[in-house]
Amino acid sequence: MKVAIGCDHGGYNLKMSVIEYLKKIDVEVIDFGTDNDKDSVDYPEFAKEVCKRVVDKDVDFGILVCGTGIGMSIAANKIDGIRCAVLSDTFSARMTKMHNDANVISLGERVLGKGLAIDIVKAYMSVEFEGGRHQNRIEKVMELEHK
Ligand code: RB5
Repeated sequence: MKVAIGCDHGGYNLKMSVIEYLKKIDVEVIDFGTDNDKDSVDYPEFAKEVCKRVVDKDVDFGILVCGTGIGMSIAANKIDGIRCAVLSDTFSARMTKMHNDANVISLGERVLGKGLAIDIVKAYMSVEFEGGRHQNRIEKVMELEHK
């Protein structure tokens, strides 16, 4: 399992906690920055780097972290091939993989505690896309990129 991860200054500390957890369970993590919580940076730049690796299939999925998770998800969902969900609960984490085949998840450091954030990552990783009726819906969603 290989994951691309990125954050802005608002998500740096939570990103480091998520990386620590992923490494502990032997997931390979490619970290695209940023590398501290002091210098103000622009989240779309980090979303772009992580999403490129997801679209190119260099990684199994992507994780983005900013203050709320919202800016990162808005940026990510502008990129062809990306289905990014902002997550604040474990039910949605499972459902977005099973039904939406989300290939990027976005977390908010100013919204979530470390324990919940890691549970969300675990929940997302614990299930698979169900396909079937959801495949057709996803194809319709992805068609919207080209309209
Ligand atoms: C940065 O202050 C903050 O705006 C950013 O991390 C994020 O929450 C944007 O959606």
